[in-house]
Amino acid sequence: MFQLNLTQFTQEEFLRDYWQKKPVLIKQGFLNFEDPISPDELAGIACEEQVQSRLIHHTDGKWQADFGPFESYDHLGEENWSLVIQALDNWSEDAAQIIEAFRFIPHWRLDDLMASFATPGGSVGPHMDKYDTFICQGSGSRRWRVGDNGEHKEFSAHTALLHVESFDAIIDEELEAGDILYIPPGFPHEGSSLNNSMSFSVGFRTNSTVSLLSAFADHLIDNDQGNELIQDPNRAATQNSGAIDTKDYQLIKNQLQQILDNDEVFRNFAGSYMSQAKHEMDLVPNEEPFSDEDISDILTQTNLLRLGGLRAFYFTDTVDQGICYINGSQVDFDSSITSAVKLMCDNVCVAAEDLAQWKDNSLFIDFVKTQLDLGYWYFSE
Ligand code: SIN
Ligand code: CO
Repeated sequence: MFQLNLTQFTQEEFLRDYWQKKPVLIKQGFLNFEDPISPDELAGIACEEQVQSRLIHHTDGKWQADFGPFESYDHLGEENWSLVIQALDNWSEDAAQIIEAFRFIPHWRLDDLMASFATPGGSVGPHMDKYDTFICQGSGSRRWRVGDNGEHKEFSAHTALLHVESFDAIIDEELEAGDILYIPPGFPHEGSSLNNSMSFSVGFRTNSTVSLLSAFADHLIDNDQGNELIQDPNRAATQNSGAIDTKDYQLIKNQLQQILDNDEVFRNFAGSYMSQAKHEMDLVPNEEPFSDEDISDILTQTNLLRLGGLRAFYFTDTVDQGICYINGSQVDFDSSITSAVKLMCDNVCVAAEDLAQWKDNSLFIDFVKTQLDLGYWYFSE
């Protein structure tokens, strides 16, 4: 279990003073940190087809990036390269535990856990991100430089690498195992490994307005909604046929505003969209479905675990009506089991003792059975 060791501020003070505002180094944010996964295991995962991975290397200022899956690393030599893996939380239960330390930020804001192994001099180069990231240093050490936000010119150092021009550092530190560097979006940064080192980055991101609107439009099309036309039965004669007057401009704007203001429609979209998986998951539907009796027995003995990368949310305003959102869809349940469903949405791992009281509730057993059959949840071994 990874627990944050905050000494310079509380979680609330961090959110007030740093979150989305300025970078900060949290020295020994994890005490006695040990890599949840070895470099060899990481290299093995990067050989899998469904995993998003990149190898980045540089020689004499020339950058190269290759995309996985990889078959071998033998050609790379001893220095100046790093292996980066996206969404490690979907492939390693142990590594996913790091995210648990950051649960004071809601899960809908989470993107993924990225991990990197780097040899001496290994780096992804100076760049800016569009997300908030907590870079957790694992074994070995890296030097990190972070610049101030503002105008920074970006350029392609390679077709797959967007770099930023040199910047003055406001943070310039050597990170050791357990140190955490928080960087908000738009602050240029560059890490360079001082030896063979591991790093785990917990990333949080939001959507741009255009991506949200485009996804909303797709949602309306899929659900055959938003087909209303502008109606103007009380129109008065105009003297300027080329003009769109103030009232008409408002009419056009209201058409869109109305569907955004329809909370039933928009909430259904937002919940479904936010719960869509951000990265490929290790999804294997359950081929030998459990019987209700099996589930009832196992519930009291074994923890119920959520598949790595699966997103499950509810709105505080509607959960009592029996609505939640799992993996991109609205899921309705009987409101009498709301507190059990909330437990499953709030926690990646629900302890057996917390579910024991639901073991004879057929509505809850049905709900869990559906989730187990889909492969979204599973019982720990
Ligand atoms: C890395 O771990 O090498 C890169 C992390 C980052 O810059 O966001
Ligand atoms: Co970065």
